[in-house]
Amino acid sequence: MYRVLVCDPIAREAIDLLRKNNFKVDFVESPAPEELCRIIAAYDVIIVRSATKVTKEVIDRGEKLKIIARAGAGLDNIDVEHANKRKIKVINAPEALAVAVAEHTIALMLMLLRKEYHACRSLKEEKLWLKKKFLGEEAFGKTIGIIGLGRIGSEVAKRCKALGMRVLGYRRHKLEEKARELGIVAAPSLDFLLSESDIISIHVPLNKETFHMIGERELNLMRPNVYLINTSRGAVIDGKSLLRALENNRIAGVALDVFENEPPREPWEWKLITHPRVIVTPHIGAMTKESQRKTGLIIAQKIITTLSTDQ
Ligand code: MLT
Repeated sequence: MYRVLVCDPIAREAIDLLRKNNFKVDFVESPAPEELCRIIAAYDVIIVRSATKVTKEVIDRGEKLKIIARAGAGLDNIDVEHANKRKIKVINAPEALAVAVAEHTIALMLMLLRKEYHACRSLKEEKLWLKKKFLGEEAFGKTIGIIGLGRIGSEVAKRCKALGMRVLGYRRHKLEEKARELGIVAAPSLDFLLSESDIISIHVPLNKETFHMIGERELNLMRPNVYLINTSRGAVIDGKSLLRALENNRIAGVALDVFENEPPREPWEWKLITHPRVIVTPHIGAMTKESQRKTGLIIAQKIITTLSTDQ
């Protein structure tokens, strides 16, 4: 009987499916690194979301480990290179959450444009009828630059087209082909996209190449009244440079669902989060009932299939 360690909450149905298939499943919520290193030796499979870090040390302590399953898309909390060296399979479920993240991105974009967060807050908390203060802007006719045209970026592009926006897309590989398929404009370079867009939305994974890919130089290329949205990973943007740009009135508004530290802990992060032109959510892009259910079931099914074909 294979033993599965679940470290971050996943859909109940996924656990039931594993148990029905004769897996012994234990749940230890967000174990501290030392605890994880201590218990991992007993398990064949570990399932994590973003909170638990599967480091080189954890992998080395996992003597029986065969699968590291990420119930989600991003693999930046897993030492994939080391897992590959140890011939441990790393699986994820990016197909389950693209719609949820794309819908959240659109919600944030519209909230930035129409100032709904501040309008709602002033009415509920201060009981102020500030109708004239909340003159917003329309998405229709605006140019959105989408950085990264994978599953999520593509879903965002489709929705922006439906809103009547001009959609510019950029990615390093097979850009022309993807842009044609989506019916959007391929930006000849990242710099072009940055300087041409009214709204910029980031949809890239976090890796060595994308770490702080939006820094001071890139922020300076953007239009002074640009809106910036990040629902990918916090560290893709150099947050301190972003804060400086906001303080220097270089940006009209920012929406962040992701942060360099989650939960945030540095004073500069809290300054960024509480800045009046920044709206924030606590990494809820993929948090829909539908996407969580799908993610859990896809991961459980992939574990069952992988271990039954390996036998
Ligand atoms: C993911 O990569 O799966 C998403 O960002 C959602 C998450 O980590 O919670």
